[in-house]
Amino acid sequence: MRVAVGITGASGVVLGQRLVEELSKAGHEVHLVVSKGAVEVARHEESLSFAKVKKLAKRVYDEGDLAAPISSSSFKIDAMVVCPCSMKTLSAIANGYADNLISRAAENCLKMNWKLVVVPRDTPLSLPSLENMRKLKAAGGIILPPNLSFYNKPETIDDTIDFVVGKILDTLDIQHDLYKKWGGKQ
Ligand SMILES: Cc1cc2nc3c(=O)[nH]c(=O)nc-3n(C[C@H](O)[C@H](O)[C@H](O)COP(=O)(O)O)c2cc1C
Repeated sequence: MRVAVGITGASGVVLGQRLVEELSKAGHEVHLVVSKGAVEVARHEESLSFAKVKKLAKRVYDEGDLAAPISSSSFKIDAMVVCPCSMKTLSAIANGYADNLISRAAENCLKMNWKLVVVPRDTPLSLPSLENMRKLKAAGGIILPPNLSFYNKPETIDDTIDFVVGKILDTLDIQHDLYKKWGGKQ
């Protein structure tokens, strides 16, 4: 599977980094864009090094590189995941404001009906952000907030990260064992 991954400047850049690890481990072709905002957030969070995940990706592009292959809908991808997705990038995608490679590649997904998953992270949420999520959902995107879950009994932050990454892989129909699927009440 050829997957574009955009990592933007919302809290939890480690989610995007873990996603790239899992996709690469499973043999998928990752086309990665890390925004300047994501680099800034990573400086404040205990996240992995971008150098490590950049090595795992098939191609890495600068967010300003609007001439990159994924900037064109003639370059077929199977899906794109923006994880985490800042409210700024959410707004850009929902409103067709394609001023960088992440919002442009996402726009291509909406144009071509390719799978687009966004993992919006902010709390609490403003009305404009909620409206942007509604718009994006109506346009065909999948909105997957990195919500906490308790039914799978997480013991560590890694368990919580794995749960969110597992949920993303579910939307891409990729098998994984990152969290235990609900099998009904035992
Ligand atoms: C430490 C830090 C944490 C941030 N967390 C969030 C967040 O959780 N959600 C969000 O929408 N913006 C957050 N921001 C603000 C965004 O990084 C900012 O709006 C930026 O312009 C987003 O740009 P990008 O989408 O191109 O990466 C954070 C900024 C910093 C410095």
